[in-house]
Formats: sequence, structure tokens, C-alpha cells
Amino acid sequence: QLGYGLATGLAGAGLIGSAKAAPIDLSFPKDFRWGVATAAYQIEGAVHEDGRGQTNWDVFSHTPGKVANGDNGDVACDSYHRYADDIQLMKNLGVGTYRMSLAWSRIFPEGRGKPNQKGIDYYNRVVDTLLAAGIEPYVTLFHWDLPQALPGGWQNRDTALAFADYAGFMAGKLSDRVHNFMTVNELRCFTDLGHQVGIHAPGLKLDAAGVNQVRHHGTLAHGLGVQAIRAQAKPGTQVGLADNTVFYCPVMETPEHIAAAKKATREKNAMFLTAIMEGRYIDEYLTEQGAAAPKVQAGDMAAISSPLDFVALNIYTPEWVRADDGPAGYVTIPHIASSPRMASPWLVVGPEVAYWGPRMVSELWGPKTLYISENGASADDPVINGHIDDVDRVMYLRNYFGNFRRLVAEGYPLKGYFLWSLMDNFEWADGYGKRFGIHYVDFATQVRTPKLSALWYREVIRQGRIV
Ligand code: NOJ
Repeated sequence: QLGYGLATGLAGAGLIGSAKAAPIDLSFPKDFRWGVATAAYQIEGAVHEDGRGQTNWDVFSHTPGKVANGDNGDVACDSYHRYADDIQLMKNLGVGTYRMSLAWSRIFPEGRGKPNQKGIDYYNRVVDTLLAAGIEPYVTLFHWDLPQALPGGWQNRDTALAFADYAGFMAGKLSDRVHNFMTVNELRCFTDLGHQVGIHAPGLKLDAAGVNQVRHHGTLAHGLGVQAIRAQAKPGTQVGLADNTVFYCPVMETPEHIAAAKKATREKNAMFLTAIMEGRYIDEYLTEQGAAAPKVQAGDMAAISSPLDFVALNIYTPEWVRADDGPAGYVTIPHIASSPRMASPWLVVGPEVAYWGPRMVSELWGPKTLYISENGASADDPVINGHIDDVDRVMYLRNYFGNFRRLVAEGYPLKGYFLWSLMDNFEWADGYGKRFGIHYVDFATQVRTPKLSALWYREVIRQGRIV
């Protein structure tokens, strides 16, 4: 199904030429890991099957007015049943890695207590099928689908403890075959979007103190999760998180603007990655929040800053910053109507973030390994002459890849990349209306069709360079 046929006519007509000088090297290291990413609630469906418990997203998506078009994840891509087909899609692409998440509520339907063997069996089947296909799973333990039965959700500190129990339990079950675990995905989204802005589950708008406490419980869950995984997984298991750091890019590449971007990146991520990497809430954040600062118990910050084997970054949108003479030393520049965007209004295009984001994280904290746990774009997917020619997505990816290439060439420790996403799926509050897949999913028939971007990515992987 992949492939547009050979353009023999063009070669015969002398229209495929050769360059005059040696081309610029656009290749990635041979051992660079190319992958794709998905998440449980966005693809699995089968929400009532095999003992799965209800989650906050089941409740939220079934609440009228919360998700575009009244969509929900009840069926999604039906990957719970079609995982073998989806793994075949990955095989066709030639990826060596797959970032997937586990549905906590399939393992502990009530969030804690007695494990559900059928849920464990399901993920054993997925992992074994991946390994048989030569694809290495990278497992995210929490990608937003929280067991509804946990009282108070992330407002309750106990949820962090329950998460650690579940994370350690599953690492114990899988680490004979899974070597890389990510604790949580995008702290900022499941805390702030869910509890401050209210556009994600559970749809709350708490005051500043409430939001900060939820953030603290999220980072604590990550930290306790790291400890639990280390305690129960096989030695050598690699642990990190998938963070959507807000990345500040310098408006131009000069020392003062780069310094400004670095300071902004550290301060604006104070409640998440900065705390995780530095083991404390920095003064700027504590001063800014005053009485609303999080309540921290003894030992929390040590847990939160548990050493990591890697830091993985979800990279989409840049923030821009310039040096300034004021007390902060920098000024951030808001996105405006003319900022270029993909189909999702929040997805402002800025390929430079693929370089500056990981570079800032490296310069600030020096993690020994970096991954891109997500990068990709929503697009409208036109059908041209029978093909889904998503040239805008390819354009987006190609430009971001150029910046990843620069990063690697300059020696920053980026070891792998996961494209979001293998296929169109449930895009949270946007429902099925925003498509991020490199395979098109017809949600009425569940037929998956490779888009141009899938063919392009397959070629990048095959040649090990940007095409
Ligand atoms: C971030 C999230 O981790 C993922 O679930 C989401 O679909 C993509 N970005 C695109 O918005």
C-alpha cells in the first residue's frame, strides 16, 4: 500500500539530475532511534472491556459541552483489538521504537488495590507482539487517564502514592522486556489544563493555591514513581519522564539573547522540570506565588529530584524571548494572529524550538540522554488524486528535523525521536476533529491509510537522513 510508484518517466526524460557540489550532510547517526508515539486513551477504545475501570476522561468526555462534537474515547482507533494491525503499520514504516502508554485503570480499575490480570495480559500481548516485530517499546505510565475511583484525583496527595504503587507494579511486570519507562506525560497539561483552565479532565478552575498543590502532587507522583520503578524493575531499566517544558527561544543567536532564553526557560518551568532537575522550588517561583505556594512535606523534594536516566521532551511550539534591561533580564513575546500555525490553533510553528529546546535543557541541567518523546502536527489532510498529500505536515516535520539534526551535529545527547502520532486519534478536547496521524484513520470503518508524511518518514528512516 505504501509508495507512489516509480517515476521512471522522469528519469528517462533527464528530469532527475545530480547536484554540482557535495550536498550538505543531512544524516543522523546510525544508532539514532526513530519511533512513533501514541497514548492509551487516545487509541485503545474498549473502555468497558476486560475489567477496565472508569477514568476521569471517560467522565469528562461524556459531559455535554466538554469535547468538540461530543466525541469521546469509547472506541477511538479500537487499538485494544487492532494492536497487531497497528504494529504492522509500524513495521511498514521501519521504526525501531514505539512510545505507548498503559491505562492505569486496566491494571487497577479502582486506582489501587487488587490488580486486574486481564489488563496485565493485554499489555503483555502488545509488548510481545512489538518485540516479535523488532520494535522496542518505551512505556509511559500515565498519559492523563486517571482512575475515577481515586478520591479527589490530583487534588489529593494520596494519588501520587497510588501512582507510585501502580508504576512500580507494572515496571516489575514488564521490565524483563521493556527497558525504558516514562513516568508521566506533560505535567503542565494534566495539572493546569485540567485544574486551572478547566478545558481538560476533570474540568476544574481552582485558585492559585489549589493549582500549585495539584502541580506538586503531579511532580511528586513522578518522583515517587521513579523510586518505585527503580525498586521493582530489573537493574539497568532506564527511567525518565515526557515533559512539555515551555521552551524559550532567543529572537536572535547572540550571547545576550541566548542567556535571556536560558533564564526564562528555567524560571517559567519552575514548578515542573526545574524542580525535578534542581530539587527545589526556585525563589522566583516562591516569591511570585507567595501564600499560594505549594505545601511541601519533608522528603518530597528529594523524591521529586530522583536522578533520571533520560529526559524526554514533547516539542511543538516555541516561545520567543529577548534580552531586556528590566529586573527579569528578559521579555517574552506573545504569539499573535500572524504567527504561523498548523490546524490546532495552539500549534504555532517554529522549527527553531527543536534546536533551542533541547539545547536549553542541556545547558541548564546536563541530562546525559535526551529523547524527543513527541513532535508532530495537526493538518487538514487533503486527498489529491487518491493520495493524502499532507505536504504541510511534511514541511513542518522537515524543518523541525533540520533543527534536530543541528542539535545532534553539535554534540547534544539526543538519542531518539518519537513522531506524534502513528495515526489519527482522540485529540482530547478537540475530539477527532484535529488529526495528528501520519496514517489517516477513517473512524467509521477503522481503515488506516498512510499519508504522504508516512511515506516521507519511512524514507527518512530508511536513509537515515532528512529527505
Ligand atoms: C501532547 C499530548 O501528550 C498528546 O496526547 C497530544 O495528542 C499531542 N500533544 C497533540 O496535541
